[in-house]
Amino acid sequence: MAERYTEEELTKGKELFSQDCSFVLGVASLSQLPADDREEIAFAGRSNVGKSSLVNALTGRKTLAKTSNTPGRTQQLNYFMLTDKLYLVDMPGYGFAQAPEALVKKWQKMLFAYLQGRVNLKRVFLLIDSRHGIKKVDAEIMDMLDKAAVNYQIVLTKADKISAAELEKIVSATAETIKEHPAAHIDLLITSSEKKQGIDELRAEIAKLINYV
Ligand code: GTP
Ligand code: MG
Repeated sequence: MAERYTEEELTKGKELFSQDCSFVLGVASLSQLPADDREEIAFAGRSNVGKSSLVNALTGRKTLAKTSNTPGRTQQLNYFMLTDKLYLVDMPGYGFAQAPEALVKKWQKMLFAYLQGRVNLKRVFLLIDSRHGIKKVDAEIMDMLDKAAVNYQIVLTKADKISAAELEKIVSATAETIKEHPAAHIDLLITSSEKKQGIDELRAEIAKLINYV
């Protein structure tokens, strides 16, 4: 089921994301990670699923995170700081990317190590393309997050690209899969960065998550 939010929660979300957000650094290897002195949330998912676009939609900034038609655009863990409270981490995509295989393997290794080992990581938002649903490679990531007991939540993206009937089908199939994954948040979120659908709800979820008052 998709979660519902109170007016107050939605307002808090808007307030949080109306604050200043700026790029901090791009991390190409784990030794470059910033100090874990504040909470962070990460946006993960297959290449081209819409991670960078979602960071832009959330922060209301069109070009804060670089987006592209070519899978594999984001090649580092890109850190953004929202006020001084929270890091938003735009991750490189996993799965297909237009990059040499050795490089893709190197990213994958880093992504796994980061996801499993980052102590201040409050939640991973795992993005799934509404047109495709959860694929094998996504299920593998979910298994890994379950094993590492990392709190994560599924976010369906690009909801504008399919019909309401198709969306309904993918939502129920995804909800069924979520039930099999112990570390997954029971509610999923439905978004379109293009049409700004579900963005206020995701903001509210994040504000709730960090107890933003
Ligand atoms: P990588 O960094 O390569 O892993 O990709 P990403 O997950 O960051 O995807 P990105 O945000 O760069 O978006 C990929 C493509 O999908 C771009 O052409 C976006 O314009 C498009 N896109 C992203 N979100 C949406 C959406 O909600 N609706 C539609 N129609 N297109 C979207
Ligand atoms: Mg990206």
